[in-house]
Amino acid sequence: MRNKLIVGNWKMNLSVAESTDLAARVEKGVAKHLGSVDVVLCPAFIAVASVAKAIKKLPVGVQNVYFTDHGAFTGEVSAAQAGEVASYAIVGHSERRHLFGETNELVARKAAACLRNGLTPIICVGETQHEREDGETKQVINDQLATGLTMLTAEDMAKTVIAYEPVWAIGGGDHASPEQVAKALTVIRGVVREMFGEETVGSSRLLYGGSVDADSAGAYMGLEEVDGLLVGGASLNDHEFNAIVKKASDGKK
Ligand code: PGA
Repeated sequence: MRNKLIVGNWKMNLSVAESTDLAARVEKGVAKHLGSVDVVLCPAFIAVASVAKAIKKLPVGVQNVYFTDHGAFTGEVSAAQAGEVASYAIVGHSERRHLFGETNELVARKAAACLRNGLTPIICVGETQHEREDGETKQVINDQLATGLTMLTAEDMAKTVIAYEPVWAIGGGDHASPEQVAKALTVIRGVVREMFGEETVGSSRLLYGGSVDADSAGAYMGLEEVDGLLVGGASLNDHEFNAIVKKASDGKK
């Protein structure tokens, strides 16, 4: 049985001192759930090493990586470098795609770089409001995965996490309904099955993300299709985040 996975994406928030403080409070608060739930914290790059040093029981993730291991790429941090301190990397978050122009091809190269360097990629996919209204949700997810997963082997895919994050639901907007989430995750599992086979599809974990808080977490975690949650805003508050982890632990089937 797959452990549930709850990931906190702190985005470009918190000082280094605030990050290590929050991480320590989360570590303490979620300790009793770690047998059934994996909890990953993704601070801003500047705080990743300090957070990794400050906590013992939780793995640390990064929010982005570059795909070349070393070289003249001013301002970038490679998967090889991130892999020295982190265990997970968010790849293709919608803010990267929409604010920084990341394409599906770039996502593919970044995911491959993560796996090459011992990082578990958390690949984000999801449609915009406009795409949903136009009935393109399934097609958008299909395209994002067909290209985004193209450089992975079945063995890679079994370790890879995919997060369904509809763009319209991120950042305190509307929640996706549990039905919408179940439907999208079924599409994702179908693509993974088609690309990598039945055995692989049972191993990779699928998350939902988008305005998840302690109140809404239980309904998502109760879904058969959901292996965990990618949490933005609510992960900046330890009480709220720890309550989400508890819901994941309670909801374990
Ligand atoms: P949110 O962010 O929980 O603040 O909507 C989720 C994410 O962007 O990963």
